[in-house]
Amino acid sequence: MKILLIGCGGREHAMAWKISESPLVEKLFIAPGNPGMKDLGKLVDILPEDLEGLLGFAKKEAVDLTVVGPEAPLVKGIVDLFRGEGLKIIGPDKKGAVLEGSKAYSKDFMERYGIPRAKSHTTGDYQEGLAIIEQYKCPLVLKADGLAGGKGVLICETRKEAREGLKKILKDRDFGDAGDRVVIEEFLTGVETSVIAFVDGKTIIPMASSRDYKRIGDNDRGLNTGGMGTYSPNEAYTKEVEARVREEILKPTLKGIQQEKMDYRGIIFIGIMITPEGPKVLEYNVRFGDPETQVILARLETDLVEIFQGVEEGTLGDGKIQWKAEKAVCVILASKGYPEAYETGKIIEGLEHADQQTMVFHSGTRMQEGSLVTGGGRVLGVTSVDQTLEKARQRAYRNAEKIYFDGKIHRRDIAG
Ligand code: AMP
Ligand code: GLY
Repeated sequence: MKILLIGCGGREHAMAWKISESPLVEKLFIAPGNPGMKDLGKLVDILPEDLEGLLGFAKKEAVDLTVVGPEAPLVKGIVDLFRGEGLKIIGPDKKGAVLEGSKAYSKDFMERYGIPRAKSHTTGDYQEGLAIIEQYKCPLVLKADGLAGGKGVLICETRKEAREGLKKILKDRDFGDAGDRVVIEEFLTGVETSVIAFVDGKTIIPMASSRDYKRIGDNDRGLNTGGMGTYSPNEAYTKEVEARVREEILKPTLKGIQQEKMDYRGIIFIGIMITPEGPKVLEYNVRFGDPETQVILARLETDLVEIFQGVEEGTLGDGKIQWKAEKAVCVILASKGYPEAYETGKIIEGLEHADQQTMVFHSGTRMQEGSLVTGGGRVLGVTSVDQTLEKARQRAYRNAEKIYFDGKIHRRDIAG
């Protein structure tokens, strides 16, 4: 098979690694990819949001299956475009992608299908927003409705902060059109878990559980980021929680997908807070997580391409997905300043010293004058597997220490 993978981050590096391991794959194209993936497939210089460019390429090369990494092309309707031309692609159609594309829509969806969630109000009116804020206890959460690259969620400790946040979103337009509306939401406490599942429209099968560390600083201090580290499995995801998630969240989510007539043959990612009252949904994403994918795929035993075929053909329920017993930990190495302003172009050294049980996935790297340099906020994801979580954690940190670039930062408490 010829496969086209779309994306350029650590998530796609991990996907490219697993796809390239499959005996079913004859050729892997990655658009646009990054320097870490160059030995796994052929890098193609087309950006994920250039839907027509990607379609033209897939037709020209007679690609058998396209796999979409990031959300933006899905929300723009890449699946409708490809399927409309008779091409096979993994992902939800545009209607399904709204689950991530609009937080206001996803809250309505959760309400319609009785899915446990944080109490919330949606508004596009600043004065109304100010009045709603007064009804909520602090801390409270503000979410820009549209896609904001993981930066559109503000956790406000005080009402003053919330009023300022509301102004930033609705009046100053810090997130552009994504801030046409804002969801004002109750703050939930508990342990977070990421439940990522394959969906073929008839069946929903969760992957191994994982936990993401969202804040920049140790002990969950500081600003929210795209994710600073992960581990799998998440020990807070007990059998009891798993059963509740299946009944109270996964089943009604699938029912909603069917009733809303979404053509959903792809990945669904449900961010969940395990609260004292039980699991509640924080958000839906319509793709794999980053850096959850790094630890999840490190534990996947079954051929990923075979699973994708089942997703696309609607036969996901026929096979069984196997996971390795080993645990996995991913520590993100980021650029000083992230998630705010940071410098790039710093030379990266020491990658060749990673041990056999460690994969270093590239997130934001590029080549400059023959050297590998930093090219983003999140730079690398050091991912180790081992018999126990503690051993995997120690291994990931040992390997992280072998890598050097100017301004390297990372959290010290991943999986701790
Ligand atoms: P989201 O993009 O909606 O998942 O939000 C990003 C992150 O913000 C989540 O992973 C949580 O860490 C945090 N968050 C979002 N909503 C809430 C909430 N209602 N209560 C507490 N934390 C939240
Ligand atoms: N790590 C969270 C996300 O991918 O949205």
